This record gives sequence, C-alpha cells and structure tokens, in this order.
Amino acid sequence: ESGKLWGGRFVGAVDPIMEKFNASIAYDRHLWEVDVQGSKAYSRGLEKAGLLTKAEMDQILHGLDKVAEEWAQGTFKLNSNDEDIHTANERRLKELIGATAGKLHTGRSRNDQVVTDLRLWMRQTCSTLSGLLWELIRTMVDRAEAERDVLFPGYTHLQRAQPIRWSHWILSHAVALTRDSERLLEWGHCRQSPGCGPRAAPSSWGRGGHSLSSSLALLPPTPPELNFGAITLNSMDATSERDFVAEFLFWASLCMTHLSRMAEDLILYCTKEFSFVQLSDAYSTGSSLMPQKKNPDSLELIRSKAGRVFGRCAGLLMTLKGLPSTYNKDLQEDKEAVFEVSDTMSAVLQVATGVISTLQIHQENMGQALSPDMLATDLAYYLVRKGMPFRQAHEASGKAVFMAETKGVALNQLSLQELQTISPLFSGDVICVWDYGHSVEQYGALGGTARSSVDWQIRQVRALLQAQ
Ligand code: ARG
Repeated sequence: ESGKLWGGRFVGAVDPIMEKFNASIAYDRHLWEVDVQGSKAYSRGLEKAGLLTKAEMDQILHGLDKVAEEWAQGTFKLNSNDEDIHTANERRLKELIGATAGKLHTGRSRNDQVVTDLRLWMRQTCSTLSGLLWELIRTMVDRAEAERDVLFPGYTHLQRAQPIRWSHWILSHAVALTRDSERLLEWGHCRQSPGCGPRAAPSSWGRGGHSLSSSLALLPPTPPELNFGAITLNSMDATSERDFVAEFLFWASLCMTHLSRMAEDLILYCTKEFSFVQLSDAYSTGSSLMPQKKNPDSLELIRSKAGRVFGRCAGLLMTLKGLPSTYNKDLQEDKEAVFEVSDTMSAVLQVATGVISTLQIHQENMGQALSPDMLATDLAYYLVRKGMPFRQAHEASGKAVFMAETKGVALNQLSLQELQTISPLFSGDVICVWDYGHSVEQYGALGGTARSSVDWQIRQVRALLQAQ
C-alpha cells in the first residue's frame, strides 16, 4: 500500500523531491477549519441522498469534530503522506473512526473540495479585511474632522496649485478607500457555491464512471448550512474557474494603489524640505550610520507591498491563461497568492491606521508653504466676477504673475496701479483676494475645500461607515 488516497493503481514510491514539489500542506493547512466545515455539510448531504445511514453520518460528523479539535489545539500530527489538507483530514478521520471514513468522499473530488474550502476561507478573510479597512477610514475621517481648519498647499504635478484644507487632502484618500470597501462588499463571487454539495455532474464526467448521478441528483445542490447565496451553473467551470481569486487579487491591487499613493504623499510631506508632518517614532526607523535620520519605513513598505500584490495578481492570471478545461494542478498555485495577499493587506491596513492616528502635523509649516502665486486662479475669478470672460481673466492674471516675477516681488505686492496697467477692472477691493482663508471658502460646491463642503464629505463618509 502506498499510503496515498489515490494509491490503488500505483506501484513503487514517489520520488521524495516530487513528493515535496507536489505537496501543498505547508500552506493549505490554513484551510483546516473550512475543510472540516465543508466535509460536515457534505456528509449531511450524503445522508439525505441515502448514501450514508444516520449512524454513519453521526460517526463522520463526530470524527470531523475531533479532527477540528486537534487542529485547534495544535495536536494534529501531519505525516509524510499528507499531501494537502484534504488528504490529511481524511486520513486522520479514518484513524479516528475506521472504514466509514471512506464513505465521505463518495461522489466528490478534491477539486470540488478545494474550491469550496477556498471560497469559504476567503469569505471570512474578506470580512476581516473589510473591518480593517473601515477602521482605517474611520481614523482618517476623525482626523479630517479634528483638523479641518488647517490650510496647506494643494499640488498638481507636484507644483503648488491652490490652498486647500489639510482635511480635504485626507478625505481625498479616504474617499478612494471607501470605493475599495464597497467593491469588497459587492464582490459576491466568493459567496457562490461551486456545488460541492453532492450533485450529479461532478461524478458524471471523468470521475472514473461513478454511477451515482441518479441518487445525487436528488440532493439539494448547495448545503444550506454553508450559506452560499447562489450556485455556479456548470460543474466543469466550477472546479476550474478561479475568477473569484483573480477578483480578490485585483481588489487588493487597486486598494494597494490607493494606499501606496497616500504613502507617497506622506513620505514627501515628512521630508525636511516639506516638513508638513512628522511620523511617529513607532512607525519609523533609524539609520545605522547617520544618527540624525528618521526614516519613514512604514510608508515605504506600504508603497512597496503594492508591487508584491500586483505581482500576485498578474501571476495568477498567467497561471490561468491557457489552462485546458477543468482542474489542472496548476490551480494549486492560487492559494499561496491568496494567503500572501491576505496577510499583506491585513498588515498594511493596520500599519496605515497606526501611521495616520499617530501622525503629528506642523500647522505653521503648512501655512508658511502657502504663497500668493497660489491665489492667481482667484485673481482671475476676481476679474470674472467683474464681468470678464474666464479665458481673458486667466490671461490677465498670468500677466500679473509674470509682472511680479519680473519685478522680483510676490504677486500680492503689485500695486493697484500696476495691476490696472493689465486691466482697468482691478480696483481697491482686489485686496480681498490675498487671503488664504477666504480663498478656500470660495470652493463651497459639493466636493470642494470650503469648510461646508469638507463637513459634507465627512458626513457622507460617516454615513457609509454607519451603514456597515
Ligand atoms: N491540493 C490541491 C489544490 O490545492 C487539491 C486538489 C487536488 N486535486 C487533484 N486532482 N490532484 O489544488
């Protein structure tokens, strides 16, 4: 006996290097709980189909509980023939309850099992990640609310653009993250059952001529206790599609794009050159050579983890592309991607929450970074209010910027007479333009940086948080 669940037609041992190469137990052991959960549901289905007696089912259920208990207590002992979590659990079940264990696999294959397990596992993980993501968003919104009277430069092309509220910047990132959160909630594919509950199809193709289809067809296709909302329509598709994995990896990639961009902003803002914010020591590291240094490693790692997650997403798509129909062992590679990306997302979200909640801002530096040239757009709007078409006003304000630059003075240092050489529409009230607070308050339309708009944004995001 080879000791393998599939050993019947084999003579001789598998090469040890192949044994190791083929095994997935080192990582798919994470699935122990959902594997037991799936098998329990499956055995209930078998009993309903008349393929197990009530006593046999009870024996199996009891045995599976024992298997789960051993995993939970850390006493489950793997042996060298345990190729993956499915074989390990079934092997142990047989040791615990004897030959009846052999009935559990009636009409199902590991291909059904693995895809069911993974969906169940991802369902749990996604709800954990969703909680962590909301925690981060809540932290950001709290900050935005507390610091909404702080002004600093808004940038485009990394060039000073217009004064904005610091909260407006925070919310710009928080709002992107709310889309990630919604995407995660809407993503229902891990809630579909691959139909691993006994049903006719999986045993009627390529499973060695089982003739179980008539009895299995009588069964409800999806064990209700697994709480799958729908069933996939085709068994060949069900065991070979990994759309739900690809979607998860893409979700993570997009979320990492957002987090990485926020990290990049903050890395710049905590340089001496910007000095808008100071990262807490708890999320920084030092240099082994230069004693003065405090490096934003937390943010740099958030930025870099994005690359790793994208790699997993692209890698899986490449694995899937060109696979022949139904299950191929290539699909075993999906799990490391899912586990790694889940762990990465969990860590990144928690670190980002820590960074944001402990960040110190330097309000004076932020204020000092504002310069009158950032009000050039407002100067154009001033002329627009006096009746000038915007294009002309833009041109006139640009001329004022040029004049100030040529004279080597700040834009607000030009005299009224000088401004009037550009347009006779300038008058004494132009002085009102040179006020940063007044500037941001003009942008009161929805989504703008006026206090009322920022408050509105905060209320909107809080409403989304509450709807969770
Ligand atoms: N460990 C395998 C995986 O992760 C389980 C399915 C194995 N199926 C098979 N036909 N060998 O995909």
